Amino acid sequence: MKTERFILDTDPGIDDALTILYALASPEVKMEAITVVNGNCPMEQGVINALSVLELAKTTQIPVAKGMDKPLLLPVINAEVTHGKNGLGYAELPAPETKPVEKHAVELIRDIVLQNSGEINIVAIGPLTNIAMAIRLYPQIVQAVKHIYIMGGAINHCGNMTPQAEFNIYCDPHAASIVFHSGVPFTLVPLDVTYQTLMTEKDLQKLAELKTPISDFIIKASRYVMEYLSESQEVMGCALNDPLALAALFQKDLMKVSHLVIDVDTNAGVSMGKTFADFYNYDHKSANGYAALEVCAQDFVDHFMKRMIQLSQ
Ligand code: BDR
Ligand code: CA
Repeated sequence: MKTERFILDTDPGIDDALTILYALASPEVKMEAITVVNGNCPMEQGVINALSVLELAKTTQIPVAKGMDKPLLLPVINAEVTHGKNGLGYAELPAPETKPVEKHAVELIRDIVLQNSGEINIVAIGPLTNIAMAIRLYPQIVQAVKHIYIMGGAINHCGNMTPQAEFNIYCDPHAASIVFHSGVPFTLVPLDVTYQTLMTEKDLQKLAELKTPISDFIIKASRYVMEYLSESQEVMGCALNDPLALAALFQKDLMKVSHLVIDVDTNAGVSMGKTFADFYNYDHKSANGYAALEVCAQDFVDHFMKRMIQLSQ
């Protein structure tokens, strides 16, 4: 089995926290570092959350770096209504004892990617500010990175932030535009697929039987977003947006991806942050990335739950 090495770029965040746990539970992948960006919560809170979740899973050797605390051009947006005051829903973890590394996230991405050319993937599950900055400052990483898996966008699906835009891309559409047009190999894992992968109340009941700190955390964190999604969008479960982007790295059969001309609206109008694919190639451009548009949803949820149960025990 070839282990896929990756950097997790994240705005922790409930489903980001689940992704950290999913990575730790999956021997098919090796998480080299966690780089934090503003998004679901302010960047500094995201760093605390990342460290606390690692400590919950008794892992302290993975470097966590502070990254960009605001989008490239737009004002800061956070998602307290979806992820709660501290970003982890109803869960409250002890303050972490470990500290972030000194290096800035963008420099850590540069160093890990350039020192391991062709080996390192990035799984980007927050706004793309850190990744865009890394590409602008150190364009050599475009050739050196293996692949970027991005949780973001809504191609044929409505938005979850505005009628048309998905949260991560809406937070920093200019960063998304830089990444999409950089030439870097990327796969978008948009709401089209992530909103099919729901962890349900029944799944939480299975975890509840375990009564361990990790199962308790997953339940308290997820229940918050489940309440939000059912009340505001009639989505009956916790959408596993970010864990699905990680799954794209090591479970290639789960999703059907299409090679497309992918773009984002950066104009300050009603569709700002809308991602779209030029399916008919009106503009006669070459495809610049892949988008996952179909998923074996139940297979993924079953796999995710199995790993969460294993990790909790
Ligand atoms: C994305 O936005 C955040 O709320 C989630 O963590 C996920 O990355 C879904 O739109
Ligand atoms: Ca996220």
